[in-house]
Amino acid sequence: MLRRGDLDGRPGQTLLLHNLPNLPAERVLLVGGGKEKELTDRRFREILAKTAAALKQIGATDAVSYLTELDIKGRDLAWKVRQTVEVTEASLYRFDQLKSIPNNQKRALKRIVLAVAKRSDLATGEKALREGQAIAAGVALARDLGNLPGNICTPSYLADQAKELGRQHPLKVTILEEADMHALGMGALLSVARGSRQPPKLIVLEYHGGKPDAPPVALVGKGLTFDAGGISLKPADKMDEMKFDMCGAASVLGALKAVAELKLPLNVIGVIPSSENLPDGNANKPGDIVTSMSGQTIEVLNTDAEGRLILCDALTYAERYNPAVVIDIATLTGACVIALGAHAAGLLANHEPLARELLAAGRYAHDRAWQLPLWDEYQQQLDSNFADMANVGGREAGTITGACFLARYAKKLKWAHLDIAGVAWKGGKEKGSTGRPVPLLTQFLISRAESLPAADKPAA
Ligand code: BES
Ligand code: MN
Ligand code: ZN
Repeated sequence: MLRRGDLDGRPGQTLLLHNLPNLPAERVLLVGGGKEKELTDRRFREILAKTAAALKQIGATDAVSYLTELDIKGRDLAWKVRQTVEVTEASLYRFDQLKSIPNNQKRALKRIVLAVAKRSDLATGEKALREGQAIAAGVALARDLGNLPGNICTPSYLADQAKELGRQHPLKVTILEEADMHALGMGALLSVARGSRQPPKLIVLEYHGGKPDAPPVALVGKGLTFDAGGISLKPADKMDEMKFDMCGAASVLGALKAVAELKLPLNVIGVIPSSENLPDGNANKPGDIVTSMSGQTIEVLNTDAEGRLILCDALTYAERYNPAVVIDIATLTGACVIALGAHAAGLLANHEPLARELLAAGRYAHDRAWQLPLWDEYQQQLDSNFADMANVGGREAGTITGACFLARYAKKLKWAHLDIAGVAWKGGKEKGSTGRPVPLLTQFLISRAESLPAADKPAA
């Protein structure tokens, strides 16, 4: 077949064979792997995606895959199995719940069996399979929530989805209402919601898989269900994409789903401040000064820098859990899209070991982040004549000054910030939520669970 030119082995090229003699399979799908020496993580993922597309195209319901036997430099079987599950699930994902006629009526792939070379690989393979499935389920949840439009996915809807998650998994879910936020003095969060008819929500999820006294990991996700910019109104072009401004929140829910499915022996808290940001007679105005829960005052020079306003109060709120570490996840700045594009999330942290853990988790999960500096020198860009700080620091280093703002609310915490503005969704023809960084976050938590000293693991 190679000689006849039916196939030349280019990566991702496929050829379907029928009725091969002496085989239990009706059809065999040959998949090009390219040059063995050039088989990188990225290429392996491309091959997996093309394979999934081909299986879908031919209407296969059942398949056995041997792609996990490919040799990829520096990657073991567990990694290959995980990637196979994740990439296959992601390739088959469709969001057609809001179409009156579903996009594609083809029979869906129901089962895929991954072959391992030897019996002794089975346990490793099965563990990786479970992890891949849990991550894929978390990614799918995050994608669904991200793709839902602002008129459906409101703060109340997100709160309901969190409660639903709490019914499916052992998660305690608490919703703080506007009155609770007033009582706590969350003036920054409340100010963003002033322009909206939808009440803001502060969603708190608690997963207790670790020892009762083990300090939790806290994940704080930006949940702007629509960001029009407020009085500092955004331009009309592509404004629809600001329905994705709750992808940080969605990734927290997705990661918690994965953690709960895997029953990780850790404690994890999710904190999701959620609001809309719209112009209105009652909305924040440029120059308004608000008082955050921490007591620090903020001059709102640009109402479109609203993410930091809702996150700062959520970070202060997270202090009450005495977290081991806090990670916030936010579609915070357009500047991050300019700096890093669609391939890496921006990472900034006040604790270097935490930054390193997150970078490593991202590399393993192929959901990478790249660190930017959080030097003190940048802080002065936030100086205000009238309040403790301004909410914007000018055009220069926009991602860094956004993080600098948050850092002022994380002084008591070991904290990292993931700016996911570039990675959380795709534009263009394939517009839609990606589910990132659920794989990074889940891997971070899996690694933490695995490195726990025996004494810190809960009794089985
Ligand atoms: N949600 C946006 C950030 C964003 C913009 C993400 C475009 C993805 C694409 C955020 O609330 C925002 O508007 N940020 C401003 C900050 C600025 C006013 C300092 C921005 O990036 O323009
Ligand atoms: Mn904004
Ligand atoms: Zn925003």
